[in-house]
Amino acid sequence: MSSAVSSPPSGDFDYNANRGTHTAGYGTIRRADPRIQSQIHSALGTARTVLNIGAGAGSYEPTDRHVVAIEPAAAMRARRPAHAVPAIIASAESLPFDDLSFDAAMGTLTVHQWRDRATGLRELCRVTRHTIVLLTFDPEHVHDFWLNDYIPELTDADQIRMPRISALAEAFASHGFTTTSQPVILHADCIDGFTEAYFARPEMFLDDAVRQAQSAWGFVPPGAEERAISALRADLANGAWERKYGHHRTMPTYQSSLRVVVAQRT
Ligand SMILES: C[S@@+](CC[C@H](N)C(=O)[O-])C[C@H]1O[C@@H](n2cnc3c(N)ncnc32)[C@H](O)[C@@H]1O
Repeated sequence: MSSAVSSPPSGDFDYNANRGTHTAGYGTIRRADPRIQSQIHSALGTARTVLNIGAGAGSYEPTDRHVVAIEPAAAMRARRPAHAVPAIIASAESLPFDDLSFDAAMGTLTVHQWRDRATGLRELCRVTRHTIVLLTFDPEHVHDFWLNDYIPELTDADQIRMPRISALAEAFASHGFTTTSQPVILHADCIDGFTEAYFARPEMFLDDAVRQAQSAWGFVPPGAEERAISALRADLANGAWERKYGHHRTMPTYQSSLRVVVAQRT
């Protein structure tokens, strides 16, 4: 294994740990959902050159524009498919590019993990000519999801990890960008397996591989995950989940805490 695999993580979650087992679901469980993808791509507007930060295995990366990807975790880079552009080994906090190098920059489900968010956002603004697009969870709404009733430790951790949308807007404003935020409407068959994607499919949480592909479970205290999953398993077996949350099964869409945050240079 390369030395990069054993280097310290650039974010708050170590994707290289346990020989990269947490990245095993990228490409299978954590795949780009086409509806979220088209929302992101339309937010990128007419940008021809795009920097993808924390690019992971390449989800949501456009294929019809000139893309440069950066990804600090070796285990993630190893999951990039052959058709994706190779990822440069770098972190948001120190981008190896000149000022105003890209029409647009994007980062999907990554900003909450950065070690030094203020520096990363400053770097993002420095290298971007026009538009920055982030896909991120609004911490003010992470508790709305029914999973919170089974494992509040997980949504509590998410609430702390995720930047407030207003904090992102303030940071962007200090670098000359104006921010808007769009809600993301999830469909019941959402392909990208983050937690809220399974709002209508509670059985999915019983699958170890699904939870392993969701970094939030790595932030709950020992024993909490086992307690929550056995409670959910019991409620699914005895009908308690159906009685309380069963209406989710027939909801075609769900207004999640996910947001597309768009910052435009003014
Ligand atoms: C949840 S994954 C998302 C990957 C991909 N963008 C996606 O949507 O599937 C978060 C990614 O952010 C990366 N990351 C963590 N800290 C970072 C930092 N400081 N700079 C850039 N990327 C970082 C991780 O290595 C990981 O690949």
